[in-house]
Amino acid sequence: MPRTSVITGAASGIGKATKELLEHRGERVIGADIHDADVVVDLSTAEGRGALVEEASRLSGGSLDAIYAVAGLAVPAPATVAVNYFGTVATLEGLRPLLAGAKAPRAVLVSSMAALMSSDGELVALLAEGDETAAMARAEVLAKEPTTTGQLIYASTKLALSRWVRRQAASAAWAGAGIPLNAVAPGIIATPMTAELIATPEGRESLLGVVPMPLNGIAEPIVVARLLAWLNSEENTHLCGQVVYVDGGSDVVLRGDSVW
Ligand SMILES: NC(=O)c1ccc[n+]([C@@H]2O[C@H](COP(=O)([O-])OP(=O)(O)OC[C@H]3O[C@@H](n4cnc5c(N)ncnc54)[C@H](O)[C@@H]3O)[C@@H](O)[C@H]2O)c1
Repeated sequence: MPRTSVITGAASGIGKATKELLEHRGERVIGADIHDADVVVDLSTAEGRGALVEEASRLSGGSLDAIYAVAGLAVPAPATVAVNYFGTVATLEGLRPLLAGAKAPRAVLVSSMAALMSSDGELVALLAEGDETAAMARAEVLAKEPTTTGQLIYASTKLALSRWVRRQAASAAWAGAGIPLNAVAPGIIATPMTAELIATPEGRESLLGVVPMPLNGIAEPIVVARLLAWLNSEENTHLCGQVVYVDGGSDVVLRGDSVW
């Protein structure tokens, strides 16, 4: 039996590349996105998150092998909080019951090397508490200055997601149920999300100044897709709560020895 997965953000960039890779390997993918997908839902809303679970359950016949929570936004606005953090957590928690009967259940989310950038402590704390109303209100305040505090929103969501994975992965719900739960943290990937930023040599140089990628530079989405596919494959039996940087070296350049 081919494996069946749900991928959010399947209409574009990393999610699309992952869907194509898995389908090329003969696996079945239920793609979810706000447009051009098997399941068209808005993951910034409670209704959309509920509809994702309902539709994925219907289309899969009630059983999934893997979940890929990839959908994300990088705008300096509250919507980024709703999609990146609460949409991702709702995807993983909402679809987790569908993994119950699988032989090799797996789950992965997409964080970012941006988790290493400046973030807003208050927003990160509200995300850890799971208080969406207060987190959205805080993001509203940060968004008033789009080029300064607004820039902290994306990094805050990705930092909170990296922590969420580490806090959840060893719990009864995930490791205890035999489900490896992990994350990837990409560096700069050439997708519609970054297209404008990297359209010119000056833009690329300036971004690489902040996100150094000494190993092979800016990557194509297939690079991340291959790692996601392996993390959610049967071969991965023991990675638990890891945030794997697929970033051409930005993590080692920026953090050096500080993590050990
Ligand atoms: N591109 C990069 O450099 C980079 C780096 C690190 C992390 N990431 C992360 O990778 C993931 C994929 O990003 P990408 O680069 O492929 O970008 P992308 O813009 O090509 O794809 C993101 C997808 O998410 C979908 N999405 C956005 N809001 C949604 C909503 N409300 N409901 C449902 N779907 C929604 C979009 O429609 C889109 O198809 C994101 O989580 C992003 O934060 C990207």
